[in-house]
Amino acid sequence: MDYEIRTLSSLEDFTEHERLQREIWGSDQIDVPVNLLMASARHGAVLLGALVDHRMVGILYGFPALTNGHLHHHSHMLGVLPPYRRFGIGLALKLRQREIVRAQGLDEITWTVDPLEVGNNLFNFGRLGVVCDTYIVNAYGEMADALNRGLPSDRLEVRWNVRAELPRASRKISPHATQITAVTYGEDGLPGPQRVAELAGGECLVTLPRDHRTVRQADADLALRWRLRLRQDFTEAFEAGYALAGCVEQVGHGCYILSKPGE
Ligand SMILES: CC(C)(COP(=O)(O)OP(=O)(O)OC[C@H]1O[C@@H](n2cnc3c(N)ncnc32)[C@H](O)[C@@H]1OP(=O)(O)O)[C@@H](O)C(=O)NCCC(=O)NCCS
Repeated sequence: MDYEIRTLSSLEDFTEHERLQREIWGSDQIDVPVNLLMASARHGAVLLGALVDHRMVGILYGFPALTNGHLHHHSHMLGVLPPYRRFGIGLALKLRQREIVRAQGLDEITWTVDPLEVGNNLFNFGRLGVVCDTYIVNAYGEMADALNRGLPSDRLEVRWNVRAELPRASRKISPHATQITAVTYGEDGLPGPQRVAELAGGECLVTLPRDHRTVRQADADLALRWRLRLRQDFTEAFEAGYALAGCVEQVGHGCYILSKPGE
């Protein structure tokens, strides 16, 4: 598919960005309104659109950020309309963002991502090579949009080194890795979480359903159990000095790889 990635700068562009926010996240509420897009565009924000046949089908928004004295770029929003996904547009938006942020003299882009969204994390860890050692409980409070409503908005905060190379291949799991959370199927055929071992040093694995949306639609309580299971797994692991180093696909499942940096 032919597409163009370009920096957004006019009022029409920003209005279109707002429209896409509604369409992609299925919400009546606007996350970042035109006036804020305009103000931040004048002060170092990165605002990109992906266009197919002159129609905007993907958006990105990020801004310069200061965290504990460290100046970096924080990416708040990346989305592509469903019919245009898996054509390389999301990756092209991130690569353009990386180019602009490098030219601003910054080294790192951060963003938050839902750990239940395996597809997004295959993209983040597998294609971009992010790392993560921060878990934020209910990061945005209750969210009303179609993708997020009904569960606490827990997020992983990932970091992307914009000077590093992209991963060449998906990360391999060590044969000595310890599975700490596994998927077990109940009589209703739905995948439930089961903690099967404690953190044991070396590589540890957390397995979860590949498609969390189906679980959420079938059983809201089960979706909440997964949210709380991952919350405990990741907060415990990060407190113990582990970092999240990869997300890979296994038949019907996603699998997070935790390891201690330097081990
Ligand atoms: C995340 C998102 C922006 C990805 O955009 P996209 O244009 O589909 O991504 P790309 O086509 O550039 O994907 C590049 C590679 O990332 C991986 N990838 C992307 N989405 C994936 C998914 N859902 N499942 C598995 N791998 C995925 C693939 O390796 C893909 O390459 P391939 O298609 O050749 O295998 C898009 O799915 C989206 O808009 N999601 C809804 C909004 C959202 O949740 N945004 C938060 C993003 S962190």
